Amino acid sequence: MGARQNRRECISRPQEPVFANEVAGEIAFGCENYGYSHEDIQSHVHRAAADIKIQDILDHSLHSLSYGMRQKVAIASAEAIDPEIYVMDEPSANLDIASTYRFADIIRDLKQQGKTIIIAEHRLYYLMDLADRFLCVQKGKIVREFTAQQMKALSNQEIRALGLRTPDLHQIEQAEILSAATSEVVLEVKKLNHSFGETIVAKDIDFQCRKGEVVALIGPNGTGKSTIGRILAGLLKEKSGEVVLFGKYCRPKDRLGKVWYIPQDLDSQLFGEDLLDELTTGAEVSPERKKAAEEILEALELMPFVKQHPSTLSGGQKQRLALGVALMHEAPIIVLDEPTSGLDGTNMRNVSRMIRKLAKMGRTIIVITHDAECALACCERAIRLENGYITDDFQIRGAELLLEKIGYDQKEG
Ligand SMILES: Nc1ncnc2c1ncn2[C@@H]1O[C@H](COP(=O)(O)OP(=O)(O)O)[C@@H](O)[C@H]1O
Ligand SMILES: [Mg+2]
Repeated sequence: MGARQNRRECISRPQEPVFANEVAGEIAFGCENYGYSHEDIQSHVHRAAADIKIQDILDHSLHSLSYGMRQKVAIASAEAIDPEIYVMDEPSANLDIASTYRFADIIRDLKQQGKTIIIAEHRLYYLMDLADRFLCVQKGKIVREFTAQQMKALSNQEIRALGLRTPDLHQIEQAEILSAATSEVVLEVKKLNHSFGETIVAKDIDFQCRKGEVVALIGPNGTGKSTIGRILAGLLKEKSGEVVLFGKYCRPKDRLGKVWYIPQDLDSQLFGEDLLDELTTGAEVSPERKKAAEEILEALELMPFVKQHPSTLSGGQKQRLALGVALMHEAPIIVLDEPTSGLDGTNMRNVSRMIRKLAKMGRTIIVITHDAECALACCERAIRLENGYITDDFQIRGAELLLEKIGYDQKEG
């Protein structure tokens, strides 16, 4: 909430900008804070909304909006007070690729107006034609500085050594995945239907997953991926259809614990006193269990923070911790919702390795993601959802088809 107290010269927005229920109120917030007159607030809000092209959602509630729309509202609320400098904290973390490119267009407009823009970011591909300089920060120091030209010239090895993500998604090398999938079907979804009012999320959806399989669930923001994840885990009841686990029809409450869902919003999920407690909670802590938890924390590079309260971790550290909780848990089927959205290259690769390890142990994993680098590092198959239907279901072989289905080339179109 510190963003609200920012001085006019420099506006910083947190990653998830949800402060008020109504879009107009949210955009007006900064102006109100600076004591603008009622008329000025009105005109600034309407100008900012027009600049960002969100005039028609001014009376909507923020919670009804997709992440991409929320991002636009956040930018409009900064723009309303016309700062000279914008500081943005991982603005693309929750955006699909199409929304990321629309966001890049907004940044381009601000740049053309002569604004200074600082973006803390892991995803580099959308900034290649936009940013003038790339500063690589490690342990509180700027260790390297690149132009876009120099960034593009880096080899895959150099990118890995710097712990970065790729500047060019077409350059991603697909990991050599040795499928751990057996022939046993452990999850079967039959004619699944779900909707929220008029919003249709699933329309007679059918699919199956096998033991040891790692499946990417892709599709645009707001299409229903998280909802389906929650339904599979029994956290939400489907309108109709069947979820069959290990050959047996299961009602939602029978699915709890068999399908483990790790949500996008982790703050509501982490309850432990410290990291070890988070991993061992709910059961008697035997020396073996403690050792297993420590090994997992070590592998996830979380041991330096072991005594900290989970709420004090960064977004990326929380994502790794939540994966650690899943590793400790016995559930045979795990649904990870955007597990790498806030992760740098090194941690995205670590998490992908962990996912492969889980598969090798016989777990079935559904990775909800629009992170092509993650999908290419650990998933063998992709299911794409849109408007309530499965539009594609394919084996991932190389980057090109996956990038096309995720929407990477929409900027050219
Ligand atoms: N609890 C809810 N009440 C009403 N609408 C919802 C609720 N949860 C999700 N939705 C709507 O359902 C659609 C799918 O949402 P979601 O599953 O979060 O999509 P995705 O994960 O693919 O981005 C969106 O239009 C969203 O606004
Ligand atoms: Mg989602």
